[in-house]
Amino acid sequence: MSALSELNKEIALCQQCEIAKYRTKVVPGEGAEDADILFIGEAPGWHEDQQGRPFVGPAGQYLDQLLSSIGLRREQVYIANVIKCRPQGNRDPLPSEILNCRKWLERQIELICPKMVVTLGRYSMAMFFPGKSISKIHGTSQKRGDVIYYAMYHPAAALHQQSLRRAIEEDMLKIPQLLAQAKSMPETNKQPKQLTMFEA
Ligand code: URA
Repeated sequence: MSALSELNKEIALCQQCEIAKYRTKVVPGEGAEDADILFIGEAPGWHEDQQGRPFVGPAGQYLDQLLSSIGLRREQVYIANVIKCRPQGNRDPLPSEILNCRKWLERQIELICPKMVVTLGRYSMAMFFPGKSISKIHGTSQKRGDVIYYAMYHPAAALHQQSLRRAIEEDMLKIPQLLAQAKSMPETNKQPKQLTMFEA
């Protein structure tokens, strides 16, 4: 079994937060273990909690369409979330939940070693672009080390607001060029890399 599968099994046993009691399934993440792009959403919703898979509800179907607009299928990227269990009633994640779950995402990134990290929505953005506002930085990227970090709106938000829909679709179309750039950057080290995330 791969190190990432082992890790995801470990995540599935986590009981650190109160929400562990209410979950149906943990949603560690899925996709290509050597993906060039890692998409990071917020937290599982009802559908994800039922199936144990990320982005399989309406927001997920929209994410699939967005991926297909740049010629990608979800199996070719990795999709994870900031927190791995569904907050009851789809409430926002608590700071303590984000903090407890952070180590899982850090380890996933170390193992996947993506060339590009795409944040979906403000909780994910806050981990990589602290203090920024999504309305200002969506569609912009930052290169740190040999990884490009890119902020996008959350597909669920864009589904319901026409103006965000246009923005997310345009932002998605910028990914291929950024990815080509990221792939052409020399790798600074071949070791599993530390995630350039910021202190919570
Ligand atoms: N929204 C998220 O942020 N993540 C999912 O997995 C599904 C919906």
